Amino acid sequence: MASSVPAYRYDRRQTYLWNFENAPPAAEASAEEGIVSNGSHVRVPPPTCDRAATTPVGEKGGPWKYLDWAVSLPCAVAAGPLLNGRWILYAARCGFDVLTHKTVRSRWRASHPLPNLQPVELRRLDRLGQTVQAVEHDRPTWAVSFGMPSQPPELWRRDIRWARERLAPSQKLVVSVVGTVRSTDGRNALADDFARCARWAFEAGADAIEANFSCPNVVTPDAHLQHDPAAARNVARTIRGAIGRTPLLVKLGFLPDDELCRRLVDALGEFTDALVMTNSIAARVTGRAGELLFDGRLRGICGAAIRDASLRQVERFAEIVARRNAGLQIIGVGGVFSANDIRRYLSAGATAVQTATAFMQDPTCVTRWRAELRTR
Ligand SMILES: Cc1cc2nc3c(=O)[nH]c(=O)nc-3n(C[C@H](O)[C@H](O)[C@H](O)COP(=O)(O)O)c2cc1C
Repeated sequence: MASSVPAYRYDRRQTYLWNFENAPPAAEASAEEGIVSNGSHVRVPPPTCDRAATTPVGEKGGPWKYLDWAVSLPCAVAAGPLLNGRWILYAARCGFDVLTHKTVRSRWRASHPLPNLQPVELRRLDRLGQTVQAVEHDRPTWAVSFGMPSQPPELWRRDIRWARERLAPSQKLVVSVVGTVRSTDGRNALADDFARCARWAFEAGADAIEANFSCPNVVTPDAHLQHDPAAARNVARTIRGAIGRTPLLVKLGFLPDDELCRRLVDALGEFTDALVMTNSIAARVTGRAGELLFDGRLRGICGAAIRDASLRQVERFAEIVARRNAGLQIIGVGGVFSANDIRRYLSAGATAVQTATAFMQDPTCVTRWRAELRTR
């Protein structure tokens, strides 16, 4: 295994599909190995930056926990940056022990058009529907607009198996899933489709399933389960039936309403191992002249701008879980950019955290964070 890894980055000026096909090469695989979207071979790209991560693949568990797994850092890569098996192996080579595959569906779905990642000014967001201004250069905050695309299941099922076979046992692969339904489908269709995806991911070797109950960039019911505790419970119960004792995480968005948080904890506690929050905070995005981007539709803001609100939400949920003795872990996500941010989430009541933006902007961050946490 390599002792240093060239740093690749998601290229936000290119499409989702381009970034899917131009995933970092799998170190131990030939250029023909691995799976890409249209069945053609992966093009092996040159390194996009020359900084190196130094942690070999398969480095041993560690002193921290993620769910019940021993890990060297209590921080996973969140659902999003890891589009396929090659991205997963790359994040593992950088030193992450827990890798979450970007959300998949039971059928192919195209991505929203570019821009999928629009940098915005850094402004602390603390409620839904605020307005943020787009900026040109990279920032620690961006508007995310993919619309939960998915490759066809026959492709992602093979690819997940391919990746799992190449990870060390101490490295854990979590697959994020979402249900897909048509307006004419019956009452249970959404739960059944969530469960179908979860089962497929489990059969392909996923160590845990993360069910995405929130996506501000999609308007169909699959993306808004978090607002309907009874429906959320039904989906969680149906997934649980499909995956047995495999850990189940549920991903939630921004929820300022305490009563809804309490009802969600009551609804999900029986079937769920952990709640992951905060997916993003929905805002409108304007251009330089004040014009509305994305046709005026809300887009999920991720990165530093949502850290404080997400910390507060973790604190509130941790209190609710403790008071109700609900036995749920809370995993914090949103604006983790340093070991200190990880500590803040742990102090707020999270048992572990995830990162998307920081990993995408500097995949070598993991080495630094691990070293800094050792000095706690
Ligand atoms: C490029 C990108 C793609 C994302 N795609 C997904 C997704 O498919 N499913 C999901 O649940 N969250 C997705 N997210 C949200 C992240 O998992 C995470 O909740 C959010 O980015 C906040 O973390 P951060 O501040 O570290 O970026 C995505 C985020 C980014 C930046």
